[in-house]
Amino acid sequence: RIVYVNGDYLPEEEAVVSVFDRGFLMADGVYEVTSVLGGKLIDFAGHTARLNRSLRELDMASPCSDEELLAIHRELVARNGIEDGLVYLQVTRGNPGDRDFVFPDPKVTKPTLVLFTQSKPGLADSPAAKTGWKVISIDDIRWGRRDIKTTQLLYPSMGKMMAKKAGVDDAWLIEDGLVTEGTSNNAYIVKGGRIITRQLSNDILHGITRAAVLRFAAEAQMVVEERSFTIDEAKAADEAFVTSASAFVMPVVEIDGVALGSGKPGPVATRLREIYLEESL
Ligand code: PDD
Repeated sequence: RIVYVNGDYLPEEEAVVSVFDRGFLMADGVYEVTSVLGGKLIDFAGHTARLNRSLRELDMASPCSDEELLAIHRELVARNGIEDGLVYLQVTRGNPGDRDFVFPDPKVTKPTLVLFTQSKPGLADSPAAKTGWKVISIDDIRWGRRDIKTTQLLYPSMGKMMAKKAGVDDAWLIEDGLVTEGTSNNAYIVKGGRIITRQLSNDILHGITRAAVLRFAAEAQMVVEERSFTIDEAKAADEAFVTSASAFVMPVVEIDGVALGSGKPGPVATRLREIYLEESL
């Protein structure tokens, strides 16, 4: 696999980043994941806009222009022959040459830009979408700026492990009895034909897939309510689903052992997945 590091395209074994890089020492970095279907980048403009916002919110310099980023994405997809899969991009505050809590001078320390691809043949017809995911609920103990897509992924990773241990697919994070989001996706319930998903704030990531799916739902005359919902309301819902760049629209069929509706992927989630994939391809 060919990866990109700070201007160079290299075989992955030859790509190196300093041990003093603040991404490595302090998780001082942001990232994006853009999916690729049929060799095409999905929602690239949205991911770039969110990346720039994340960088701004953290006072981090942008490593290059949006046009250069697009060129790097395309080059990597081509060099690695990616039909279906994703492009991972990470910007960290770089290597100040020593460990220090104070941000380094951006005139001296350049950000580190790393990109790589992951090939996932048949990404769009994932068998999991036909059976749906089971989830458990766990406490949301993450920091208060979940709107910034930082590389601080230890707790989401622990949540995924808790889910795995419980024999299910993912965890929904709960704060004050309310669902914030999944470990790495936005969460939705459907009740009486209405789609309910948490409103945007610093409490959740502003999903790029979420924005697209809400737009498609409105175009299909579906009713959307952007508001918080409790985990109890979720367990009493007709159906549920999550969205992300890697899972697209993934039906959720069980929460904490409680089956939703028929216990099979619901019609709204199924329809939205179809629309999302049709519009993206
Ligand atoms: N995760 N919420 C969280 C906490 C996420 O990490 C993600 C994305 C989303 C969905 O955002 P989007 O639709 O823009 O992918 C919501 C990516 C896919 C990941 O970490 O791999």
